[in-house]
Amino acid sequence: MTTLRIFPDLAQNTIDPRLYGSFIEHLGRAVYSGIYEPGHATADSAGFRRDVLELVRELDVPTVRYPGGNFVSAYDWEDGIGPRAQRPARLDYAWGTTETNQFGTNEFMDWCKAARTAPMMAVNLGTRGMDAARQLLEYCNAPVGSKFADLRKSHGYTEPHAVRSWCLGNEMDGPWQTGHKTAEEYGRLANETANAFHQFDPALELIACGSSGPGMPTFPDWERTVLEHCYAQVDALSIHLYVREDGHKSLADYLACPAQMENQIRDALAACDFVKAKLRHKKTMMLSFDEWNVWDMKLGNFPFERWASAPRQLEQVYTFADALVVGGMLLVLIRQSARVRYACMAQLVNVIAPILTAPGGAAWRQTIFHPLQQASRHGRGVVLATQLGGVTSTDTPTHGPSPDIESVVTRDGDKVTVFILHRGTASAPFTIHLDGSARWRVIAHEVLTSADAHAVNTAEAPANVFPRAEPSSRVSPDGTLALTLPPLSWHCLRLTAA
Ligand code: AHR
Repeated sequence: MTTLRIFPDLAQNTIDPRLYGSFIEHLGRAVYSGIYEPGHATADSAGFRRDVLELVRELDVPTVRYPGGNFVSAYDWEDGIGPRAQRPARLDYAWGTTETNQFGTNEFMDWCKAARTAPMMAVNLGTRGMDAARQLLEYCNAPVGSKFADLRKSHGYTEPHAVRSWCLGNEMDGPWQTGHKTAEEYGRLANETANAFHQFDPALELIACGSSGPGMPTFPDWERTVLEHCYAQVDALSIHLYVREDGHKSLADYLACPAQMENQIRDALAACDFVKAKLRHKKTMMLSFDEWNVWDMKLGNFPFERWASAPRQLEQVYTFADALVVGGMLLVLIRQSARVRYACMAQLVNVIAPILTAPGGAAWRQTIFHPLQQASRHGRGVVLATQLGGVTSTDTPTHGPSPDIESVVTRDGDKVTVFILHRGTASAPFTIHLDGSARWRVIAHEVLTSADAHAVNTAEAPANVFPRAEPSSRVSPDGTLALTLPPLSWHCLRLTAA
C-alpha cells in the first residue's frame, strides 16, 4: 500500500508560473493554419483562429517563446514587419521551406494579448549578432523618439511591446544550427549581447543557450565554458530535451524516461554551481527548460515539395502513453522548480503540439494537452513538502529502477493540488494523509486513463483520451483520503480548506 503524507503548511519553494510556458516557431503549420488563418470560419479581424485561442486560453499558458527554434538562427526580423504586401518571402534553410513573413513580430505581440500570454523572444545569434539583436530590442521595447521605436510607431504600434524575457540564440551547441559556434565563441557573443541588452534595460531577463540535449558530446562542458563567459550577465541557462517511445524495450521502460529529465537538470545545475563557485559569484543561476516534450522525428512528416510554404511537418499524433510521459515530465519540472524558472513545452499548435488543427477545419486537444492543462491551471503557488511511503519500483533496461507511483503536491492559497502518476499495470491502493489540524474537502478529482496505451485523439474522436471525474473521492473525518489508482493512470486531485 502506498501512502502519501502531505504537510500543507510546509512550503518548499515558490513556482514561477512560467514553468508552464509554450513555444511557437515558424515551422510547419504552427503559425500558418495553426494560430493564424485569415479566412478561417473562426478567424478574428487579425486573422487569429478563435478556436485555437480558446484552447490556448484553456491551457492558461503564461509565456510563449518565439520565433524559433532552429528557424531563428537565420531569421531577419525586419522581413516580418511593416505593410504585408512589401514583406519578402524568404527561404528557411533549417526546415527546407519558404517563409512568407505574413506573420511577424507585431502580429505575435497582438496574438499574445489575445491569448492572454506574454512573449519570450529569441534573437538570431547564428547568421546575425549583437547589432541586429539590439535593434530588434529597441524596435520592441524603446519609447518613441528614436529610429527603431519610430519605425514601430509607423507600423501602428506607438506603445512599446515591453518584452521582458529574451533568449540569446537557440541551440548554438548543435552542428545543425545555422551559425553553430564553439562554446568559447558563443559564450563571448552571449556575454557581449547580454551586456548591450542590460545597458538598454538592466531589468531584462536574459537566457543563454545551454546544451540542446544531455546526449550532446559537449554536455556539460558547454554549459561550463559558456557560463564562464556570461555568468554575471544572464539569469538563466536554456536546456532542451525530447524523448520518444521508439528505442525503449517495453512500455514500462518508456514510461520511466522522465528520469532522464531529472538527471539532466541535476547535471546542468552542477555545471552552473561549479561556475558560481569558481567565479565567487553571489547569484544562483536558474534553468530555462525552454524546449521539452515527446518527439519521434520519424512521425508526423508528410511529403512536401522543397521550399513549400507551411507544409505539414512534425505533426506527431500523441498516444495515451505519451500523455503519461508528459505527466511524468511535469512532475519533474514542478519538483525542480526551485531552480527551473521557465519551461516551454515544444510546441503549442500542430508542430509536436498539444493542439492540432485542420486547415479550414476543427481544432482539437491531443492526449498530452490534458496533463499540461491541469498542471498549468492548478500546479501554481508553492511546492509542498510530502512523504511518499511504500512505493514499489520496476526495473527498466534503459532507466534503471523506476517508481511505480510518483506524486507532487502544490498549494495556492487555500487550494492544494495533488498530482499522481501511476505507471503500474495493476490497480493500486493509495492513501493520502493530510497533516495538521485544518480540515480539507475535495473540489475535484480528474483521472486520465485508458485500456489502450496507444489510444489517440483525432478530429473525428477528439475526446477518446479525456480526463474523467472521480466523484467518490472524499476526505474522511480523520483527514485521510483512500483512493484506488487504476492501472496506468494520471491524477489531478484538488482540495480546499473545508
Ligand atoms: O522544436 C523543434 C526543434 O527542436 C527546434 O527548432 C530546435 O530548437 C530543436 O532542435
